[in-house]
Amino acid sequence: MTISEQQEAPGMGRRQFMNFLTFGTITGVALGALYPVVRYFVPPSAGGAGEGTTAKDELGKDINASEFLEEHPAGDRALTQGLEGDPTYVIVTDEEEIASYGLNAVCTHLGCVVPWNEGERKFICPCHGSQYDETGKVVRGPAPLSLALVHADVNEEDKIVFTPWKEKDFRTNKEPWWT
Ligand code: FES
Repeated sequence: MTISEQQEAPGMGRRQFMNFLTFGTITGVALGALYPVVRYFVPPSAGGAGEGTTAKDELGKDINASEFLEEHPAGDRALTQGLEGDPTYVIVTDEEEIASYGLNAVCTHLGCVVPWNEGERKFICPCHGSQYDETGKVVRGPAPLSLALVHADVNEEDKIVFTPWKEKDFRTNKEPWWT
C-alpha cells in the first residue's frame, strides 16, 4: 500500500468520495428544482380547507373558531400563524364573529412583529413607533405601507382558514402592494 493510499484509508477512496460529492450535489440541485413543482401540487395545509392555510396556535395546532371566540371578546385582535407561517392577526368583530380579513403582523418598515395595543385601539410597532389603526391601515410612519391583508373564513370543520388577498385593498382602494 502506498503512503497516499494509507492516508485515504479507512473508508472511501478519493474517487469514491468525489463521486459521492457529485451525487450529493446533483441530488441536491434536483430536489431544489423539484421543490416548487411539488409545492405547486401539494396544498399548503392538510386542514381539509381546499385552498388556504388553517390558522394555527403557538404550538402549531389548528385553531377552532368557536373556541377562539370563547377566549377572545368582541373587538379583539389575536396573533396566530398564518400563510407561510407568518404571524397573522385574527380579528373578532363587534358582532363576536371572525372578521372576513386577517392582518399580517409584520411591520412594513423593517419587519418587526407589531403588537396590538388594546388601550389605544391601534397596532403600535415597538421598534420605531409606526402605528396602524384597527384595520391595519398605517396612520404614522416611518412604516410606508399598511399591514398586508389576508382573507379569513371559517370552514365546515370550524377551522379558521386564511387565503391570499389579491383584490384591491379596501382601506386604500389601491391594488395590494404585497402580491
Ligand atoms: Fe416597525 Fe420600524 S420596524 S417601525
